Amino acid sequence: MTQSEKTASEEGRVIIFDTTLRDGEQSPGATMSHDEKLEIAELLDDMGVDIIEAGFPIASEGDFEAVRDIANRSKNAVICGLARSSIKDIDRAGEALKGARQSRIHTFISTSPLHMKYKLKMEPAAVLEAIEASVSRARSHTDNVQWSPEDGTRTEHDFLCRSVETAIKAGATTINIPDTVGYTVPNESADLIRMLLERVPGADEVIFATHCHNDLGMATANALAAVAAGARQIECTINGLGERAGNAALEEVVMAMRVRNDVMPWHTGVDSTKIMNLSRRVSAVTGFPVQYNKAIVGKNAFAHESGIHQDGMLKHAGTYEIMRPEDIGLTETNLVMGKHSGRAALRSKLENLGYELGENQLKDVFVRFKELADRKKEVYDEDLIALMSADSSDTDHIQVKFLRVICGTEAPQSADLTLVVDGESHQVTATGDGPVDAVFNAIKMVFPHEARLALYQVHAVTGGTDAQATVSVRMEEDGKIVTGQSSDTDTVVASAKAYVSALNNLIVRRQKTAPGAAKH
Ligand code: KIV
Ligand code: ZN
Repeated sequence: MTQSEKTASEEGRVIIFDTTLRDGEQSPGATMSHDEKLEIAELLDDMGVDIIEAGFPIASEGDFEAVRDIANRSKNAVICGLARSSIKDIDRAGEALKGARQSRIHTFISTSPLHMKYKLKMEPAAVLEAIEASVSRARSHTDNVQWSPEDGTRTEHDFLCRSVETAIKAGATTINIPDTVGYTVPNESADLIRMLLERVPGADEVIFATHCHNDLGMATANALAAVAAGARQIECTINGLGERAGNAALEEVVMAMRVRNDVMPWHTGVDSTKIMNLSRRVSAVTGFPVQYNKAIVGKNAFAHESGIHQDGMLKHAGTYEIMRPEDIGLTETNLVMGKHSGRAALRSKLENLGYELGENQLKDVFVRFKELADRKKEVYDEDLIALMSADSSDTDHIQVKFLRVICGTEAPQSADLTLVVDGESHQVTATGDGPVDAVFNAIKMVFPHEARLALYQVHAVTGGTDAQATVSVRMEEDGKIVTGQSSDTDTVVASAKAYVSALNNLIVRRQKTAPGAAKH
């Protein structure tokens, strides 16, 4: 019996299969760097996710390396790699997963008439043969094999039953039914699982999983309906990230089962108090802001604006709150710190926000906190999180020393910039189409490069005109992605630092792939 089979055999236990790093990362624009993937995987493992789908090893060298390194560092979670039905894909996944304490290969092929005819250009009989061959091959690498019929919810039932039966006979231990295009509805999702459990020989020997996309906004409801019908694994992502409209959100399925355990008597191994921190980190590294009114993790999910609601909340929190903010790891969001706050208060506040700091790290953050508190009277939790997410250090190759920008109604806008590159100061002036363009042109004059700016994104950390802006920059060079992020009360300064941070990450990446080739 594999670990996940043992887990599922526990009464009412639902396996949480997180695919933030695979399906989530497939969201257009949500690419994460190697180190960011490792960090998210570690947080997911610590949170108690049962299975982490770490990537699609055949897709690129970067994906392979990420799955391999996540596998090598895994603690409790099973690490999974995705593979199409080809032998090459499966062997590559097997290779990447070799170092995992527990591994799973997830192989899939389309089974709907539309996909078989137009995408695969394969006859149903050939698809059945491919299922048999791919699952058997995956079993030669690991005894934990998951098989998925892509576009499963639009597959004819007879053929779906034959496909699932073939996969089980070939050795699949988990059968995942994807609603690839987010087309199904809750009662249909439940009926499909029930039908498979009733009709497929050997169905009681495997775990059924559900993988729902959110195109019609029903992913969470469809996933929970599948569980009600007997599925025991939910595939989901942090913040509901994923292809197109995304996947079922981990925070939603976990909290729904917890809050409405009276009608959904199932539980997971997830420590829900870690949800908020993960949501923030995933948002920070992908540059995908969380919708304000997003269930569970949205900024407004626990905010009470109207007088009637505030009055009710003061009398009894249960009047308008169905779960406690601390259940998802959310601490008080009111004003917390100011320029008179000391180091101990900062440490305690950061610990509440989920950051464990060593003495040196705390010293460094405290200096930056004081600088911020001097400029900004009110320092909120969100400001501290932004401070922690900003990636810069004294050991960076490039550092921003001075910046002055002239902007306004009269073009051209210009930037005077001093950058220190490996200890040497460079002063330049550049113009551009707007202040940020001028600054980026100035940086490029000092550090010429061919990397493409793939994303430039700004968001205000809190309200108010003195709010910090968090800027995310993503750059692409030779198919490799690097990101940078910085926050400042001055949006243009944050932009310069985020761009420089991405360049520093680019230098590190170049050093890793071609030692000695780091400079320019
Ligand atoms: O949505 C989908 O069909 C998938 C499969 C690879 C499981 O992500
Ligand atoms: Zn998917």
